[in-house]
Amino acid sequence: MKTLVVANWKCNPVTLAEAKKLFSATKKAVAIKGVECVLCPPFIYLPVLKNASVKTSARIKLGGQDCFWEDKGAFTGEISAKQLKDVGCEYVLIGHSERKKYFDETDEFANRKIKSALKNGLRPVFCVGDTLEDRKTGNIPQVLSRQIEKGLKGIKGAAVGKIILGYEPVWAIGSGKACSASEAQTINLYIRKILTKLYSAKVARNIPVLYGGSVNSNNAGSYIFEAGMSGILVGGASLNPKELAKVVKGVS
Ligand code: PGA
Repeated sequence: MKTLVVANWKCNPVTLAEAKKLFSATKKAVAIKGVECVLCPPFIYLPVLKNASVKTSARIKLGGQDCFWEDKGAFTGEISAKQLKDVGCEYVLIGHSERKKYFDETDEFANRKIKSALKNGLRPVFCVGDTLEDRKTGNIPQVLSRQIEKGLKGIKGAAVGKIILGYEPVWAIGSGKACSASEAQTINLYIRKILTKLYSAKVARNIPVLYGGSVNSNNAGSYIFEAGMSGILVGGASLNPKELAKVVKGVS
């Protein structure tokens, strides 16, 4: 499998003109063999960027930053997985820690959203991670087990093969304090143990696990080549195409 680089623009940039410019620089930055790039821009830019990517046969795939679990209806402000699929998304981030922090999203929300993404043919990138408090109290294994078991509850069979896990320690996101590769390796193995318990060793081995949290061009390669992760989630660095190009080079 190709190394996966998921670029999350979060709530950036603020104009469509900037988004188009950034997209065109991003396309060049990620055009490296052996790497699959998924871009998650704000929802409103998706159709325009899809158009731009079709026109130039860019290798970037598109993903939503979140989705709602119902397909349609009276849910003001929500965007469904079905709608994301219709505008050309193939992936969707689910359970990002910023959704938990600012919108009180729970493990149960993540579970419903993952099920809806899978039903609608999207690959969910299911984000899990510990807080500084969890770390201080030695609770990382329990927290990750709870998040993964609740998030994947009731998901079985062929659908499991579409799931991607994202390990994103909350304290590392946007802080400039990335997790060390050796710790990421320990946690990668731990996540695989949880997945093996839920499914089987063979199924667990095939579920990609990504690292996210202050990834930059200095540390990106270590998560792939030292920690054994299947890819990375890049937030801040994905807004700077020159830095993103170095990140992508570092993992290829
Ligand atoms: P960051 O964000 O790279 O800016 O830390 C990562 C993420 O939120 O996925």
